[in-house]
Amino acid sequence: MFWLNKEEEQNRKDAAKRIASAKKTIALTGAGISVASNIMPFRGKGGLWEKYDPEEVAEINSFLKNPAKSWAFLKEMQKVVEKARPNPAHISLAKMEELGYLASIITQNVDGLHQEAGNKVVIEFHGNTRRLVCLECRKLYPSEDISLDALPPYCPSCGGLLKPDVVLFGEPIPGAALMQARLEVQQCEVMLIVGTSGLVEPAASLPSAAKRNGAFIVEINPERTVLTATVANIFLQGRAEEILPLLADELSAIKEG
Ligand code: OAD
Repeated sequence: MFWLNKEEEQNRKDAAKRIASAKKTIALTGAGISVASNIMPFRGKGGLWEKYDPEEVAEINSFLKNPAKSWAFLKEMQKVVEKARPNPAHISLAKMEELGYLASIITQNVDGLHQEAGNKVVIEFHGNTRRLVCLECRKLYPSEDISLDALPPYCPSCGGLLKPDVVLFGEPIPGAALMQARLEVQQCEVMLIVGTSGLVEPAASLPSAAKRNGAFIVEINPERTVLTATVANIFLQGRAEEILPLLADELSAIKEG
């Protein structure tokens, strides 16, 4: 056990050194980083997709066919997200940005918790549940401005169907987010991957694209993933809310010299 802890500590120190000496470090985050904020992940034990069928509630054609049914699920998700607050993992990434060691975050999460923690450069790859979009006139609304008492909700200005401004299965990634993410991936020297199963495309391909461009990959996850053996140079096994504060402390110590 002692040796295992020593090895973990050494891996963390090595990761911190890589980050501190890189010209640009970026992070790719997934549902695992928000688990400690009481937002359940999609896959694995206790995941949302154990309870709901994503094809039925989170796919664009199902949404269009039966918006009230999808909305019942999406409303639940919105209520959970509204109550959630950033946890030590989000706060540590904000601290890393403040120290000058993290250029941006590409997140698959739709909870807005990175921004709430203080990160300034956050690329929302799958949108944000705190906004609604009209499928007719494309107008955006803060979610708190629209009542969800009657489902589905309709656009107050044109009467079109409203949808959370999130990417459902079968929908494309927002063009600006995709372009910005690709640029970040091209430029980064280190990519930190936190709390993602690495199974949903095109986000799942960003780590291998970074690696092909020569980036060093650090993965944080309690479980091994498809990315662990294929792209990760360092795998820090554990919960993001426990490992990221330690990594941020290492970086503070390096900064102070
Ligand atoms: P998943 O639910 O697929 O994976 C969550 C990952 O977080 C798993 O690898 C867990 O092992 C890990 N995990 C669990 N607890 C953790 C903790 N405390 N700290 C760190 N990691 C932890 O979530 P994503 O990979 O984000 O897409 O899923 C990607 C996309 O699939 C989502 O954005 C969503 C979903 O369907 C859309 O809605 C389009």
